[in-house]
Amino acid sequence: MSANSPAMQSVGDKSYEEVRRGWNAAHVRPLWESTVAHRANEGGPKAHLWQWSQLRGFIDEAMKVTTPAAVERRVLSLIEPESTNPASGTTTNLSAALQVLLPGESARPHRHTMNAIRFVIEGKGAQTIVDGKPCLMEEGDLVITPGWTWHEHVHKGTGPIVWMDALDAPLHRYLGTDMFEPGPAHDVPDYADDAAYAVPNILPEGGAELSFSPVFRYPWAQAAAAVEAAPKGRDGARRVRYVNPTNGGSAMPLMDCYLMQIDRTETIPFRTTSNAVCHVVEGNGTSRIGNETISWGPKDIISLPHGNWMTHRAETDKAILFLVTDRDTLKRLDLLREQYGNDPR
Ligand SMILES: [Fe+2]
Repeated sequence: MSANSPAMQSVGDKSYEEVRRGWNAAHVRPLWESTVAHRANEGGPKAHLWQWSQLRGFIDEAMKVTTPAAVERRVLSLIEPESTNPASGTTTNLSAALQVLLPGESARPHRHTMNAIRFVIEGKGAQTIVDGKPCLMEEGDLVITPGWTWHEHVHKGTGPIVWMDALDAPLHRYLGTDMFEPGPAHDVPDYADDAAYAVPNILPEGGAELSFSPVFRYPWAQAAAAVEAAPKGRDGARRVRYVNPTNGGSAMPLMDCYLMQIDRTETIPFRTTSNAVCHVVEGNGTSRIGNETISWGPKDIISLPHGNWMTHRAETDKAILFLVTDRDTLKRLDLLREQYGNDPR
């Protein structure tokens, strides 16, 4: 009991300490001694910038210290700086990492309950094979590997390929639902070819209902054209969402991806209870996130934890940001709260 706690009464001939020891022995704890404090509705965890200029050197080192044959996946995880939890991710609910393959290397098949995305940062000529479906990986492409789909990576290109991985692993660890199975793949389902979903406004009829997009690859050129054509949103940014074409919802149940294009006009302050990891695809700019001001450039990665007021401004004519978020998860839990700087208070 802390020195500041009010004095507790004895019970009959037992002191409060004796009463308390009896409770503790039975795995019962008085809530009034709990150190868990509920947060005020102001601010959130600090954002963090991982600069590509530094990360690229780390990738060179990782290529020298090990191989996928030795460690399955050659991955450098991006760890939330202020967390003391060794199982922590990059933000609440999301973990991001860099993965690299050299020409001729491959990463063996496996599957896990965690959903994952891969956004290609550098290189070309690799493939992620998702439930038997080959997905080309070129710069700017998004490839998803929904929970419990088999996936492996092969690289037949000529230089290293580097991509950002993001998984919903912290949420699974919290829920105790993080399961893993090594390959070889078995019981691989069939999916329609991507061409079946390639005609706007027309979908194939029939087939199994899936909770994730049966299109596993979202090519860069199409995403870039879509965001260029998108109208400005309420905060002044153009934003498009990578969706499951069968229902218009998030591409995977627990991760929700967006491409955002901004210009030299600062966006209207915005805050959300959702978390994001942001990769700068092109352009330079500045973001104000809580009390921090972060200047960023191509290929940098920035954590955007929940609760902070945020604004973004490009310092080039335009900048394009890729965001992976837990937004749809929170929305379906009725925990998504979003607010703009010009909202009435
Ligand atoms: Fe995996």
